[in-house]
Amino acid sequence: MTSDPRPRHSARHSARLPLTPLYGPSFTAAPEQTYDHLRASFGDSAPVELAPGVRATLTLSYRAALEVLRHPHAFRRDPRPWQYTVPQTSSVLGTMSYRPNAMFSDGAEHRRLRSAITEALKAVDQEVLSREITTVADGLIGHIAHRGSADLVNEYALPLLMIVFTRMFGSSDALAQRVMLGVQRLFDGDDPEGAARALDSVLAELLDYKRRTPGDDVVTRLLASHGQLSEEELRQTVLLLMGTGSEPVANLLTAALVELLTNPALSEGLTGGTVAIRSAIHEILWRRPPVSNYGISYPVRPYLLFGRMLPAGEPVVISFAAANADPAATNRDFTHVGNRAHLAFSAGPHQCPVPQMGLLFATTAIQRVLEQLPGLTLSCPVERLPWRASPFSRGLSELPVAFPPRRDVSQPAASSTPADVNGSHRQRAVPPGRSRLPAALWSWWRGHFHSKGD
Ligand code: HEM
Repeated sequence: MTSDPRPRHSARHSARLPLTPLYGPSFTAAPEQTYDHLRASFGDSAPVELAPGVRATLTLSYRAALEVLRHPHAFRRDPRPWQYTVPQTSSVLGTMSYRPNAMFSDGAEHRRLRSAITEALKAVDQEVLSREITTVADGLIGHIAHRGSADLVNEYALPLLMIVFTRMFGSSDALAQRVMLGVQRLFDGDDPEGAARALDSVLAELLDYKRRTPGDDVVTRLLASHGQLSEEELRQTVLLLMGTGSEPVANLLTAALVELLTNPALSEGLTGGTVAIRSAIHEILWRRPPVSNYGISYPVRPYLLFGRMLPAGEPVVISFAAANADPAATNRDFTHVGNRAHLAFSAGPHQCPVPQMGLLFATTAIQRVLEQLPGLTLSCPVERLPWRASPFSRGLSELPVAFPPRRDVSQPAASSTPADVNGSHRQRAVPPGRSRLPAALWSWWRGHFHSKGD
């Protein structure tokens, strides 16, 4: 280690250094530049600010990420009591505050909560899931195909994920709609406490519904592990699955579509060829992991991490994006197609339990859209695509595309003309970072549910 040329800073030194914000327009526009600059200035990790007044350490190298992720005894996931020391109005508390689920737990408690999840997800039949994704994807595409333009984040990726998830959970139509709106309200972040309370009561209803109407679904299987999981843990686990399952997949599939639409090396596969799709997905997992900075933990004691002393109890955030771009890692040819050594799914005991499911969602959804909407192009220059502001994830708030309108697809009935709950799809009534499921999609979805006898 002594011959390592990377810059190092002692704890005393870093205490006096200005904190680099992981928020604001310049970070949101080009976070990669911030990681490169921090790595050049600090080496393996750097002091950062996640939101005004919220200090943390960001790991920047591949080896630092693994060092933290693989030492769960030294780096605990439970954020209490740190969370009571930051401004209670801070925007990051919605993501970082303790909830009784696998993400925020350690040791035996983590194993208990995580095994309930893995058991419930393991039983999901991948072929059935693949058919379900295809059916829902085709239904959503059917609603936009005649128009010649669409926003593939809010009219395709997010509704697709939410619809398939609520079906996978065995929800009734009415409850599913309320769960989805509740999750969206929580993401919107205007009234986090009110949104969390409302969602809590819908999730309690969902659990009651599945007790009365058990089925071959994820929530019924989670309930079967009852006794291991308290009522509150059950609600929080369902919520964890919705959050961790939907947003990263939506980010991955939309970013991979952008890659396919703008990268000439891949564009000849634009008929929906699986090889091109896999290459694009692979590129994104390396270059722009959907969960850019996460795996947040708190050192039990001061910890010397490759020359930097990390204070006990202060958050350490793993930059999966910076680790993947670490020259010490990429120089070893990690970016070659077929190489899966990226950290997009994290590592250690909390690593994503179902990467294959995420890949199935993304590959199928991309394939359907490319096959069904030939001639797809971006409607704005790639550098003007709107990224959502977040220190933790890298996702588009909109993906405007154009394509030759399909004459063979009939326009939806006037009563279900795409006017989302905030207004028309043509005018952007939804502020950046928000998402709403268009009313027309609800009506299509209800038909889909009813035809299945719900
Ligand atoms: C391409 C899609 C996905 C990506 C890139 C992704 C990535 C990640 C990452 C980076 C973590 C954090 C690990 C940590 O804290 O160290 C995580 C955790 C998790 N993911 Fe995924 N994920 C994806 C899809 C999914 C799906 C589809 C589900 C569920 C249906 C899911 C369920 C979870 C759960 C439950 C955890 C928490 C595990 C724990 O704390 O033990 N993920 N994922």
